[in-house]
Amino acid sequence: MMGLLEFKELSKEYRRGGGAFNAVNHVSLSIEPGEFISIIGRSGSGKTTLLNMGVGLLKPTQGTVLFEGNDIYGLGDKDISFLRNEKIGYVPQGQSLLSNFTVLDNVCIPWFLFKREGDPEGRAFILLEKVGIGHLAASYPRELSGGEMRRVSIARALINEPRLLIADEPTGDLDAQTTAGIMGLFSRIADEGTAVLIVTHELDTLDYGNKTYLMDAGNLSPHAA
Ligand SMILES: Nc1ncnc2c1ncn2[C@@H]1O[C@H](COP(=O)(O)OP(=O)(O)OP(=O)(O)O)[C@@H](O)[C@H]1O
Ligand SMILES: [Mg+2]
Repeated sequence: MMGLLEFKELSKEYRRGGGAFNAVNHVSLSIEPGEFISIIGRSGSGKTTLLNMGVGLLKPTQGTVLFEGNDIYGLGDKDISFLRNEKIGYVPQGQSLLSNFTVLDNVCIPWFLFKREGDPEGRAFILLEKVGIGHLAASYPRELSGGEMRRVSIARALINEPRLLIADEPTGDLDAQTTAGIMGLFSRIADEGTAVLIVTHELDTLDYGNKTYLMDAGNLSPHAA
């Protein structure tokens, strides 16, 4: 069966200080609709590099990324952006909110980029409530804590009901109770058929996924529970 997202022998070489190394080294992985995959691994092992290639933001040195069977790096930049906004929700590792937009407007941005009809504000507000920050809808990012900003980017990733959610340490700055809430939300989304791929440092979040992989110096292998 064809995966929704497939990495085939994916590598990324970085050059630094006169040397070169593979931050991601011949990684193959397939994720199906409704599957919930977690990747763990030490700092610097290549997790973010892998996810950035998976969402179309970083061209691999070798290998292919297939989304619904299409090679995404065979598309032009515009088509990649369109695909990402329409079908893939991404929660990046760093701060990624637009500072001059309110929380509510930040969540709506992918909707406007995809030019859909309907009521994005209503949907954005429901998502903000689901991640526990409905009361912050009219605030600006600078008025938020790190964990609150993270939750805005989670809501933003879900606004277009993506077929695939990719999240890079989505609960890294959240307390245990809020983490459980977010992971429960991701599980429900996976149960409804969205593929979920997360990178996590917190081992207790592994209870939620169906499969766990370990990234070690660019190499990905199944992780025994
Ligand atoms: N643009 C770049 N040029 C050169 N080296 C890079 C570049 N980006 C990342 N690296 C290096 O590639 C390796 C993998 O980085 P990456 O960000 O993928 O790690 P990570 O597993 O996400 O780490 P963390 O858990 O700290 O977020 C690291 O050694 C990093 O220093
Ligand atoms: Mg990272």
